[in-house]
Amino acid sequence: MDFAELERDLLAQVDAASDEAALETVRVAALGKKGSVSELLKTLGAMTPDERKERGPLINGLRDRVQGALTQRRDALAEAALEARLAAERVDVTLPVREAPEARGRIHPISQVIDEITAIFSDMGFSVAEGPDIETDELNFTALNFPPGHPAREMHDTFFLPPDRDGKRKVLRTHTSPVQIRTMRAKEPPIRVIIPGRTYRHDSDQTHTPMFHQVEGLVIDRSANFANLRWVLEEFCRTFFEVDGVKMRFRPSFFPFTEPSAEVDIQCSRKGGEIRFGEGEDWLEILGCGMVHPNVLRNCGLDPDSVQGFAFGVGIDRIAMLKYGMPDLRPFFEADVRWLQHYGFRPLDVPSLVGGLTS
Ligand code: DAH
Repeated sequence: MDFAELERDLLAQVDAASDEAALETVRVAALGKKGSVSELLKTLGAMTPDERKERGPLINGLRDRVQGALTQRRDALAEAALEARLAAERVDVTLPVREAPEARGRIHPISQVIDEITAIFSDMGFSVAEGPDIETDELNFTALNFPPGHPAREMHDTFFLPPDRDGKRKVLRTHTSPVQIRTMRAKEPPIRVIIPGRTYRHDSDQTHTPMFHQVEGLVIDRSANFANLRWVLEEFCRTFFEVDGVKMRFRPSFFPFTEPSAEVDIQCSRKGGEIRFGEGEDWLEILGCGMVHPNVLRNCGLDPDSVQGFAFGVGIDRIAMLKYGMPDLRPFFEADVRWLQHYGFRPLDVPSLVGGLTS
């Protein structure tokens, strides 16, 4: 048996093993139960003492060197694997942090304000109703007690659609009030809803856009009265603008669908072009309201002698501009990401009364 040759052969195999699995195969073939070196070790038992004296050190030496080479190769392979991983997973800590999508996206101020309004009114027991943007003339005007040809129809610069087969022209709703009719025709009192949505009028300047947003409120039951309306609106303004002492002024006004009707102003100061609430001498109009007109109740199949209620309509864009200090309405609808980055809200800042309306 040529020990030197066996050793050269085994060490070459150890060197050639390119990964841990290959190295293990070499180890088993040499030092495993039936390995070539193990078989040699077994022969020691059958030798005479003299033979053993001569061969023992040779065989044991062979085993030690093969064992040593295996260990060394295993360490080298492990180190190379670690180096490769470190190189592959290198992080350049000087690069700017890439924010996750939920941290980068922004909620439009209108959506945020609608969520704020919804949170406030749902706390007062209101639910949310909706209606279509394209509305019939009947629902947008007639059922709301605008008689045909009545000048009040001209108050709204209405967008008309081309006439349909019967010659009737639908409209882009000029207010959210038609959803009052839809709601009263669809469900029995007691009714307590808010109706946020898009509205359209032919109008465009710094504070008017052809498409804008309103939130309508409607309460119908046996006894809902003007004092209740006042409380609801004061409670809303106090919570929405987050100031304790919002002073409100109810001015007599006219809407065909309410009697009596009022417009509501809130007190503010406009020193230095900046609007502040709860102080100052100025008044700012924010909504219209009133007791639902008996004709409107009748148009919905309700009996004005047994039910009554109040309604209000608030310009959402207007109160969003006021609350968040946005001086121009037009950029709201220009989809400029820089504007949205600046005025938008983080997606996880969901308004709630318990969590704080505006965090
Ligand atoms: N629809 C009215 C408008 O757009 C606002 C309004 C006034 C709504 C009085 C109401 C209300 O519900 O009671 O000008």
